[in-house]
Amino acid sequence: MRRISTVLVPALVLVCVTVLTVHAAAQNLGGNPEAQKMKNPVAASPASIKAGQQLFQKNCRFCHGADAKGDGPMAPEGTHPANLTDDKWDRGSSDGEIYAVIRDGAGPKFDMKGYKSKMTEQEIWNIVNYLRSLQAK
Ligand code: HEC
Repeated sequence: MRRISTVLVPALVLVCVTVLTVHAAAQNLGGNPEAQKMKNPVAASPASIKAGQQLFQKNCRFCHGADAKGDGPMAPEGTHPANLTDDKWDRGSSDGEIYAVIRDGAGPKFDMKGYKSKMTEQEIWNIVNYLRSLQAK
């Protein structure tokens, strides 16, 4: 009995730590104080907004919808992609927080995967600028 638990307990601890770490990486409801401090290094020029729009249409539209209202036709069943044109940001409304959601994904169940391995930082900031431009309207 004792021998089993010396193996099993550390193994279980390892599993728990892994699960917790993975969850902490995705942004949860309520915002992200660390990300809030980030400054958007990319000016919201027409070129940046246009580039962001193209990236959005290619990567995000099928879940969030062509006009970003959260009504994409191919969102996985049971998920509810956010409306990105309203003034409600469940995961934080600063540029840095929006950036972090796109980079790390939206937790806790990973309905939305992060894009950090698929996009450059500049590309993600372009999308942030595009989403911001929708709100100004
Ligand atoms: C597989 C479907 C899917 C894809 C693809 C996807 N999202 Fe999401 N997105 C979601 C879901 C689901 C949520 C979480 C809604 C919730 O729980 O509030 C979300 C949340 C968000 C939020 C947080 C909104 C808030 O109110 O705080 C942002 C910002 C966002 N997505 C942007 C993007 C961008 C930009 C892309 C493309 C680069 C993208 N998403 C791709 C499904 C998706």
